[in-house]
Amino acid sequence: MAKASKKSAQRRATPKLAKVAAGDLVTLFDFVRYAVSRFNEAELAFAHGTTDPVAEAAFLVCEALHLHPDQFEMFANARVSAAEAKTIIGLIHQRVTTRKPAAYLVNKIYMRGLPFYVDERVIVPRSFIGELLESHFGGDGEAGSLIDDAGAVERVLDLCTGSGCLAILAAHHFPNALVDAVDISKAALEVASRNVAEYGLEDRLTLHRGDLFASLGEARYDLIISNPPYVDAEGMAALPPECRAEPKLAFDGGADGLDVVRRILRDAPDHLTPEGGLLCEIGRGRERIDEAFPELPLLWLDTEDSEGEVFWIAAADLG
Ligand SMILES: C[S@@+](CC[C@H](N)C(=O)[O-])C[C@H]1O[C@@H](n2cnc3c(N)ncnc32)[C@H](O)[C@@H]1O
Repeated sequence: MAKASKKSAQRRATPKLAKVAAGDLVTLFDFVRYAVSRFNEAELAFAHGTTDPVAEAAFLVCEALHLHPDQFEMFANARVSAAEAKTIIGLIHQRVTTRKPAAYLVNKIYMRGLPFYVDERVIVPRSFIGELLESHFGGDGEAGSLIDDAGAVERVLDLCTGSGCLAILAAHHFPNALVDAVDISKAALEVASRNVAEYGLEDRLTLHRGDLFASLGEARYDLIISNPPYVDAEGMAALPPECRAEPKLAFDGGADGLDVVRRILRDAPDHLTPEGGLLCEIGRGRERIDEAFPELPLLWLDTEDSEGEVFWIAAADLG
């Protein structure tokens, strides 16, 4: 496209936002209300850690003010300075005009209350596995626990690690475990490496570049966790602009979404200890997986915001 016509196409694609005069908005609440109105008007998609416009607006306002999202309520009625107002309005406008996920605008996302650095080299973390580690792998022999003693877990593998968020949560959850984390994307591993260093986990968490298990030799793990690419061709064609800002490699699971999952199920038995198991996220593909692997007794797990999007299978049942 010629320079001039490219510029005019960009101008056409950018929604016009009315200017906000100083003093129009006063408190944190006012800015959240303003943001929600703009987000609704622009019909944004919310699928990146926050699932509705209010939570997304509160997240951006808090980030602009260097507050943890949990501190929003405490300061909701506090007044915002003129300089802070400018930053907040700038972020709201960027979110609407670029359609980038909020996390990319502030290079941060919280998972299970912990902050992680993110940018466009990685998908914005939103896996249900973080919650499941807490609810089903708590140890202490509690009912429903899939691994009896979190302290006894010695080796964990996070396949398709992206930003490294799940590997880091696993390292916290299994305090005695050595964690390996694999991704095929060099760019994603640069982000993961930054997060691992941020949490000072270099001694216990090793990043590997490779295609699924290829770089791991014959290593075996007590637990394999994975949030692989699992979007099918139809889903890929319908991704909202927010998701198109993320790496395609993080979503694309082939025609039926199962390309990577099939390979994980095929090769996991060679990398699990006899008492181990695989915890794998698959999104809305449950029916397809059950049809493709009728012989596997997959245990489908629920979380606060999902039903049957993650399965667990013990090594003994994988054959
Ligand atoms: C859905 S993202 C998950 C990232 C992270 N675990 C999370 O939950 O936020 C999938 C990741 O798998 C990586 N990936 C895709 N194909 C892969 C393969 N064959 N081997 C290893 N990693 C792969 C992508 O680069 C991407 O970072």
